[in-house]
Order: sequence, then C-alpha cells, then structure tokens
Amino acid sequence: MRRVVVTGLGAVTPLGVGIRKTWTRLVAGDNGIVSVAHLTPSAKWQQLPSTVAGMVPVGRKEEGKWQASDWLNKGEERRMAKFTQYAIAATEMALEDAGWRPNKQEDKEATGVCLGSGIGNLEDLYSTSIAYEKEGYKKVSPLFVPQLLINLGAGHISMKYGFQGPNHSVTTACTTGAHAIGDASRFIAFGDADVMIAGGSESCIHPLALSGFSRSRSLATLYNDDPKSSSRPFDRDRCGFVIAEGAGVVILEELEHAKARGAEIYAEVRGYGCSGDAYHMTAPKEDGAGAHLAMKRALKNAGIRPRDVDYINAHATSTPLGDAAENSAIKSLMLGDHGVNKESEISVSSTKGALGHLLGAAGAIEAIFSILAIKDNIMPPTLNLQNIDDGFRCNYIPLAAQQKEVNVSVSNSFGFGGTNASLAFSKYK
Ligand SMILES: *[C@@H]1O[C@H](CO)[C@@H](O)[C@H](O)[C@H]1NC(C)=O
Ligand SMILES: *[C@@H]1O[C@H](CO)[C@@H](O)[C@H](O)[C@H]1NC(C)=O
Ligand SMILES: *[C@@H]1O[C@H](CO)[C@@H](O)[C@H](O)[C@H]1NC(C)=O
Repeated sequence: MRRVVVTGLGAVTPLGVGIRKTWTRLVAGDNGIVSVAHLTPSAKWQQLPSTVAGMVPVGRKEEGKWQASDWLNKGEERRMAKFTQYAIAATEMALEDAGWRPNKQEDKEATGVCLGSGIGNLEDLYSTSIAYEKEGYKKVSPLFVPQLLINLGAGHISMKYGFQGPNHSVTTACTTGAHAIGDASRFIAFGDADVMIAGGSESCIHPLALSGFSRSRSLATLYNDDPKSSSRPFDRDRCGFVIAEGAGVVILEELEHAKARGAEIYAEVRGYGCSGDAYHMTAPKEDGAGAHLAMKRALKNAGIRPRDVDYINAHATSTPLGDAAENSAIKSLMLGDHGVNKESEISVSSTKGALGHLLGAAGAIEAIFSILAIKDNIMPPTLNLQNIDDGFRCNYIPLAAQQKEVNVSVSNSFGFGGTNASLAFSKYK
C-alpha cells in the first residue's frame, strides 16, 4: 500500500488566522470563546439560552485576524459563502506551507480536494427564505444555489488552483473533518491522487443555528456571563458544547512524491477507522461502543498497539453524556489487549476547552493538533478542567500543556446520527 504523509497545514480558528498563531496560543493556554449577546439583531441573540461562541477574530492579517479582503477579491467574496471563504484561506496557507504550487498539467491532475462542512451556509438560506416569502421568486439570487451547496468549498478550491484530481465533499455532521482526511488518505493510498487538499470548514454562528442546538439541549447555558469558562471537557461542571467556527486544511501526499521534491514531512497518516453507533439521533451509547470500535479499527489499520499511543485528542465536546461515553471507550480500549497498565498512563486532552466545537471543521483542526503534538512533542491542554469528574482517571492534561515524546497520536471525531471516526498519526521514520 502507498504510504501517506502530511506536508502542509492551514487553519482559521477562534484563536486566530494561521496554524502557528492558533497552535502557539493553544499551547500557551489562551481561550477563544467570546460572548455573542451584543450581536445584532440583539432581540434575537439575547433571548437565546446560550450566548457564547468561538468566533474567528476580525482584524488585520498581520495580527493573525480575519478580513476576507486579505484572501479574496470582491467577486470571489460575493460568490462564496463564509465557510468557503475560510476554506480558501486555510487552503492557501496549507499550500504555501507545503510549497506545492503545481503548474504542469500532470501535477494538477494528480492533485485532488476532499473538503466538507457540517451545516454549510445557513445565513443565505435564512435571508433568502425571508426575502422569498415577502417578495417572491425574483428576490432569489442567481448565486443562491452555488452558495448553498456544501461541495462548493471543494469546488472553489479546485477552480482557483486548477486541481483536477478527485473532487469530493464529506458531510457527516461533527465527524466531517475527520472523514475528509481519512477518505483523502485512501484516495492517495489507492492511487487516485498523489496529493490531496483535505479538511473541513464551518461558519454557522447564526441565531437560528444556536436556537436549534439550544432546543436539542446541546449547548452550554450556565456561563453566559463568563464565556471563557463555558467549554470545560471532562470537568464536573460541564453542561454542553460551545458552538464555534473556522476551517482546518492539511496537505496529504504520497511518501515518495513528498521525498522526491524534498518536502518537509510533519507526520505519517497511519490509520483510519469508522463506525456507526446504530443507536440514537444525537445521544451516544453510554458505554461508548461506537467510539471504541472506531479507535480499534484505526489502530488495527495502522498496525499499532494501544500501548504505543502516546496522545489522544478526544472529541469530548463538554457535554455530560458524550464526554463520559468517550472516556469509557478510551479506557476500555487502552486498558484492553496490548494496552497500558493504569488509566493514569493514558494521555488525552480536549482542545475544545479553548476553541469550542467547530462542528464540521472540528475533526480537521483537531487532526492538525494531533499532528503538531507529534511534530513538537507537546500535548495541548484541556482548559477549564478544574474538578475532574468522578470516575475519570486518565491524564487529561488539565489547564497547561505538557511536554512528552509523542510518536503516535489518535484523533477522535463523533457526530450526530451516530457516526464515529478515528485517525492515527505517527512520527515519520
Ligand atoms: C470540482 O467540483 C466542483 C463542484 O462540483 C466543480 O465546479 C469543479 O469543476 C470540480 N473540479 C474539477 C476539476 O472537476
Ligand atoms: C519513540 O520512538 C523512539 C524511536 O523508535 C523510541 O526510542 C522511543 O522510546 C519512543 N518513545 C515513546 C514515548 O514511545
Ligand atoms: C458516535 O456517534 C454518535 C452520534 O450521535 C455520537 O453521539 C457518539 O458520541 C459517538 N459514539 C460514542 C459512543 O462516543
């Protein structure tokens, strides 16, 4: 089987624009969650039970902040939904990082895109519905459909750079980013492409989205006056997830292709495992059976024993049920066959304490953190973990990053509908 390595990273997150900016702030213990109670229309925002979110900071590029005009011309900005704009910026940074700017036709044909979103463009769906209801079909923009389709993120990337390899889009709720990277790695392994742009993007911080997630009782509601405390994975006082936006993109490349052009290799993609809970629309099975199966399959695919996993980036979104189910799954996998002796030897953190939950982009950005843990031998912290919940006995890297040699990392992603995926990465040797 052809081996797949990571040669470029790009990101737009609540901690800033650019992966170095995001990672440095994450490792330093900074927090990107803010209040949205002041946004307009204020009557809509203020009535929501949850008024906190992880928002991409707006401002100048030099300060690591977001401004669409730094990345797109006026026409592109108009044609592209926000999630596509973030995807384009993250792709530009990742390609720059990888030094991959193909001009030759055969190279363009060997480069593909696999990028998705969980929800896509809620903003235009909402405003167009209102305009249509009030004034009829002539108020519907000719750009409405292309702005709505989730695969247009991948489409715009291929058009901008001329990439003619596989052009694919995943939408599996909060597992989107992980599935996109996993599927893209298989396109390379099976010979469909030599280079893949892979990841996820999301921007749906809209009162309608927060209403929906509030009604399904998924969001944190107890910390509206103290936004930075609201996302607290594994903590006794966690009470729901915090919605966030952004994009994560990786450049995946066939090993010999990367070596031949002298590319810097961050890590190797070793394993990918998927499973379905077959249980409930939104709730996990209490014992974490689906999560367990996804991780087990990823490690089997990688040929790696549980005891050789140095760091797990958990999906843990700060919900009472979800964190407990994942914790059970991690415990049973890591203490089982070829596992470790004690729970305290398991290192696992949830970076959602700092960023919130980027939904369709979460799996991508968290895969990037798992890759950087390997590259820099640093495990990023779980913020706000002041009182570890009863029955949780792993090393959750509370409050501050920890240094450790990380040869192997695993990134978990789970989504509504009962879909679970795990990715395994290792140092390239
Ligand atoms: C990729 O998909 C998009 C959206 O369907 C399409 O517009 C674009 O032309 C495709 N690119 C290639 C190279 O096939
Ligand atoms: C990482 O790999 C190196 C080289 O194979 C090995 O010497 C070291 O013990 C490993 N570290 C851990 C933490 O497993
Ligand atoms: C698998 O996916 C489901 C989808 O609802 C998710 O809620 C759950 O957390 C995942 N499984 C487990 C047991 O963690």
